[in-house]
Formats: sequence, structure tokens, C-alpha cells
Amino acid sequence: MDLSGKVAVVTGSGRGLGLAYAKALAAAGAAVVVNDVDADAAAAAVKEIETAGGRAVAEVAAAGTTETAGALVARAVEAFGRLDVMVTNAGVLRDRVLWKMTDEDFDTVVQVHLRGTFTCVRAAVERMREQGGGGRIIVAGSPAGQRGNFGQTNYAAAKAGIAAMVRTWAMELARAGITANAVIPVAATAMTRTIPAFAPHVEALEQHGTPLPDGLRKGEGFGTAEDVAPLITFLASDASAGITGQCIGIGGDKLALWSHPQEVSVAYADGGWSADAIAAAWPVSVGRVPETYGIPAPRI
Ligand SMILES: NC(=O)c1ccc[n+]([C@@H]2O[C@H](COP(=O)([O-])OP(=O)(O)OC[C@H]3O[C@@H](n4cnc5c(N)ncnc54)[C@H](O)[C@@H]3O)[C@@H](O)[C@H]2O)c1
Repeated sequence: MDLSGKVAVVTGSGRGLGLAYAKALAAAGAAVVVNDVDADAAAAAVKEIETAGGRAVAEVAAAGTTETAGALVARAVEAFGRLDVMVTNAGVLRDRVLWKMTDEDFDTVVQVHLRGTFTCVRAAVERMREQGGGGRIIVAGSPAGQRGNFGQTNYAAAKAGIAAMVRTWAMELARAGITANAVIPVAATAMTRTIPAFAPHVEALEQHGTPLPDGLRKGEGFGTAEDVAPLITFLASDASAGITGQCIGIGGDKLALWSHPQEVSVAYADGGWSADAIAAAWPVSVGRVPETYGIPAPRI
């Protein structure tokens, strides 16, 4: 995949998945604005990309606000003359069950993920529409947003909102030739390494180079950040021109297309439904096979 001439912003790219994305985009020839709240991590990422022969600059700022979004787009234009790809990846967790979750836990996660995606994509799209010639919006969803997850009211809400925004943007941006897709990644990073079922395998990989077992790489679709990065490169490229409004899963050996919410069962009552009629119809019609919820427990 040749991305030479293209310019990308990747938020939260000082480490984890974002770092893998920034390195992969740069290795394919794109110039990259590395963003993180951690200045040392951002500087190290730029150094690593440059040492490998790529082009990158760091913009240290907290993704979330309109100011940061504007600064990221301005930096891309200032340093490299244009903007073709916006990857909104920055993220934090504040996991707690609902009854222990504070307003601050909720707002912090929504600010970085949901508002950060909205503000960065809005700023990027303003620039891309001015430039002409289309563009690529790549945002970060999560299995938690697709299904719900224990202890993640804030995160699941933000990620579900991101998937909903992508479907909306696919419609709004089509005429400008800008595609918008969500990546639903699963990978060993600071965010996931402590999940009990995964932790011993991640440790064995990192300390002894022991490959992750098939049950993880295929069964759970769980691998390294580098396993996810090729999807970002593909979505950033001209080869993905016709693909928009999709939630695409990737992790380990697995690539997947997530379904979009739709009615799976319907029933009709002439003149409308009464509560009693719903109660009678539920077990034999629309409620006969209820939908599942939550991420299934790992089977490894
Ligand atoms: N790791 C997974 O399995 C997984 C699964 C689903 C979704 N995701 C999503 O992928 C993205 C990256 O996750 P990760 O696992 O690499 O996490 P990570 O914690 O390893 O890395 C996140 C990076 O974002 C930076 N960051 C945090 N807040 C920021 C802000 N406001 N502005 C700029 N940078 C900020 C951090 O400093 C860090 O470098 C997140 O959006 C996450 O929700 C990850």
C-alpha cells in the first residue's frame, strides 16, 4: 500500500494502538502528526518513525476540545501542507459499576472518546471539504460499544455513540468523497493487558516471545497492536474508496464486519397495541428469541 503524498493525524499515538497506526501509516509513506497528552511518548514516537525513514511531527494536546482539534489540523497543514486522513484513537477508561460511577468518571470518558471524535472529525472535514479531493475518517469503536460491557457505562455509551456518528457521517460526507469508518480493535495494550483471561499470555509473549495461542488469536480475535494497524493503512488508502459507514473488527488473526442495529422481529396489531396485547404477544412473537447483550466471557 502506497500512501506517499498523504498526510494523517493520529490522536493518542504515543503508545498502544495509536503508535502502531502512526508507524504503519508512516511506513507506507504518509506524513503523520503524532498526538498524545504524554509529551515524552509523543517525542519517542516521532523519533522512532524518523529513524525508520518516515516523516512525523508531534502535537502534544488533550484530544476532546475544539481547540485541540483545530491545533491538530493546523499542525498537519503547517508541517505537511494538507490533511487526508484523520484517525481518532485517543482513549481513557474509568471503569466502575453504574451505582459507583461518578459524574466525573462519566464526563472524562465521554469528553475524550465521544467529544474528541466529534471535534477532531469536524475540524478535519472542514479542511478536507476546502481542499477537495476527498479524505478518510477512521474512528475507534469497541466491542463494548457494540454490545455493552460490565462496568463500562461511560465507555460503552461513548463507543456506541461513535458507531452511530460514523453511520451519520457516511451519509453526510459521501458527496465530498470522504469515507468514514469505525475500527473495532482488540489487542494487547495497557488498556487490555490486565484482563485476567489474557494476562498470562500477554506476559509470556512479552517476556519470552511465546506466540499467543490460537484460541486467543482466532477465537477471541486478540493479538498485538501491530495486528490491527494494517486495517488503518488499508482504510487510509485509495483501495478503500468505496467503503464507508462500516464498523470493522480486527484483532489477532481475525477480520470481521459488525452488523448494524436493525429490526429482527416485528408484529402488528390493527389500530395499535394495548399493554395487555403486548403482554400476550411478547412470548410468542417479537420476544420469542430475545437479543443477547454484553461481551461473551473469553473461552480460553
Ligand atoms: N486495546 C484494545 O483491545 C481496544 C479494544 C477496543 C477499543 N480500543 C480503543 O482503541 C483506542 C486505543 O486504545 P489502546 O488500547 O491503544 O489504549 P492505550 O491506553 O494503550 O493508549 C491510549 C493512548 O492515548 C493517550 N491519550 C489518552 N487520553 C488522551 C487525550 N485526551 N488526548 C490525546 N491522547 C490521549 C494515552 O496517553 C495513550 O498514549 C482507544 O480509543 C480504545 O478505546 C482498544
